Amino acid sequence: MSTDQQELQAQVAEQMHGAATIIVLGASGDLAGKKTYPALFNLYRTGFLPKDTHIIGYARSNLSRDDYVKRITAHLKIQSDSDKQYLKEFLNMTDYTEGQYDQDESWKKLCKDVSAWEEKRGLQKGQKNRLFYMALPPSVFLTVATGLRKNVYGTEGHNRIVVEKPFGKDLESSTQLAKDLGQLFTEEEIYRIDHYLGKEMVKNIMTLRFANMFLGPMWSAESIDNVQITLKEPFGTEGRGGYFDEFNIIRDVMQNHLLQVFSLVAMEKPAGTDPESIRDSKVKLLRHVKPITLNDSLLGQYIASNGKPGYKDDDTVPKDSICPTFATLVLWVENERWKKVPFILKAGKALDNQKVEIRIQFKETPKGSLYEGAVRNELVLRVQPGEAIYFKFNNKNPGLSNKSITTDLDLTYADRYKDMRVPDAYECLILDVLRGDHSHFVRDDELDAAWRIFTPLLHTIDRDRVQPKPYPYGSRGPKELDKFVEGYGVVRRADVPYQWPVQSVAK
Ligand SMILES: *[C@@H]1O[C@H](CO)[C@@H](O)[C@H](O)[C@H]1NC(C)=O
Ligand SMILES: *[C@@H]1O[C@H](CO)[C@@H](O)[C@H](O)[C@H]1NC(C)=O
Ligand SMILES: *[C@@H]1O[C@H](CO)[C@@H](O)[C@H](O)[C@H]1NC(C)=O
Ligand SMILES: *[C@@H]1O[C@H](CO)[C@@H](O)[C@H](O)[C@H]1NC(C)=O
Repeated sequence: MSTDQQELQAQVAEQMHGAATIIVLGASGDLAGKKTYPALFNLYRTGFLPKDTHIIGYARSNLSRDDYVKRITAHLKIQSDSDKQYLKEFLNMTDYTEGQYDQDESWKKLCKDVSAWEEKRGLQKGQKNRLFYMALPPSVFLTVATGLRKNVYGTEGHNRIVVEKPFGKDLESSTQLAKDLGQLFTEEEIYRIDHYLGKEMVKNIMTLRFANMFLGPMWSAESIDNVQITLKEPFGTEGRGGYFDEFNIIRDVMQNHLLQVFSLVAMEKPAGTDPESIRDSKVKLLRHVKPITLNDSLLGQYIASNGKPGYKDDDTVPKDSICPTFATLVLWVENERWKKVPFILKAGKALDNQKVEIRIQFKETPKGSLYEGAVRNELVLRVQPGEAIYFKFNNKNPGLSNKSITTDLDLTYADRYKDMRVPDAYECLILDVLRGDHSHFVRDDELDAAWRIFTPLLHTIDRDRVQPKPYPYGSRGPKELDKFVEGYGVVRRADVPYQWPVQSVAK
């Protein structure tokens, strides 16, 4: 184990004094099975959970022990014998309690279970830490938080509550939710997860920007023409349309995930690397961003194609739905650094492939300069699949030729970093909660600033029933897309196909 890992362990130990009860609310659900439990298991296996940890799953379903174990192990990767041993130990520290979300009786029983375990392990004051992980739909969110605060809140250790999006549907509902939650838990106790902030490449943005001197002077309107932040999903709503229809692609992934990525790319250098400095810097940036107008957006909705169903073929979706499943939205930052630089956020379901990337397109060589017309430089940070950073630049064609060709400086993690295990975002984030580090979580005023940017557009779409443009399932998006982004200066050079990582230079 490396020294920085030991440091992380030491921070957990210092915060938790060696013990914690982790209560997973909504333990029988999808999120818990797919994300929460695998993250907890990996943290256990790698030695990051406090020595005395107890995990209690709580939900309304009446599950037998066997059913519970089946659900929480369904997504674990158990390969070696040592994994099997870890799993045995892990299961031994977890229990399931069934209960209602709106009844004090149920919560009191849960509290009794937690206390009984704390007694049994002989925990001292300072060790009776309770971490509430809300893997729950928004409809029961506040009810549960209220029940927990009233009945299960500990008085002899830390209480921390982890909450997941959606944080409201617009500025008003988000403000209300923040106010209600704020009456139950302090901002210090609340950890709002945006799992994009736990992703390896997203966490790398700070390092890339501020540890590399050469990038500093380039990082502005002086050199940068436009920035594209893209999230593509290859699948549709697949029966989950009922939930999605209320939220649409903008609320689902843009107001939160893509905006967080944007914040890290565009913010000024924070005063320090501590959580409050970073979040101060993001909030300051967001307050300089103009609310998005309908003019600066292109909305789409997928239709059936190649045997794949359209959005409105989903039985859970209203037949006259105008819900965008695709959007390209342009943000403008009103400060000197980003004067006239469009930040183009693009997200969609049922597109041609799966990827999340940040593409920074630099300005052209000036007219009349030696290499006029050279292909634009691009710095690309691929968040997924497969972390990579590459820089598109112009090089002399090696050999006797004096022509220039476009090529890449390529840092593909899988090729460069041997024995790399990139932990899942949730793993990093739960570790942060145990360490008491808020850096990669969303602060309440950040949420407020974020909603201010999107709410007018969202209200306009709903009020005026703005019709999205159709696009076929599996395509790149509406046919209007290329023209739309060209309007913001994006150049797509079809004559410079992206060849990567090996290219032939013979001739
Ligand atoms: C839960 O399931 C068990 C076994 O199937 C059954 O005996 C018990 O009555 C059920 N409890 C509730 C509250 O439904
Ligand atoms: C489960 O944990 C208890 C208490 O730590 C221990 O006595 C018991 O041996 C463990 N059982 C297994 C199967 O690991
Ligand atoms: C939107 O764009 C159109 C055409 O470019 C322009 O005429 C109109 O004034 C714009 N509206 C706003 C609110 O900016
Ligand atoms: C390449 O060589 C030719 C012939 O000497 C010359 O005319 C041209 O300017 C050179 N191009 C570059 C980019 O150096």
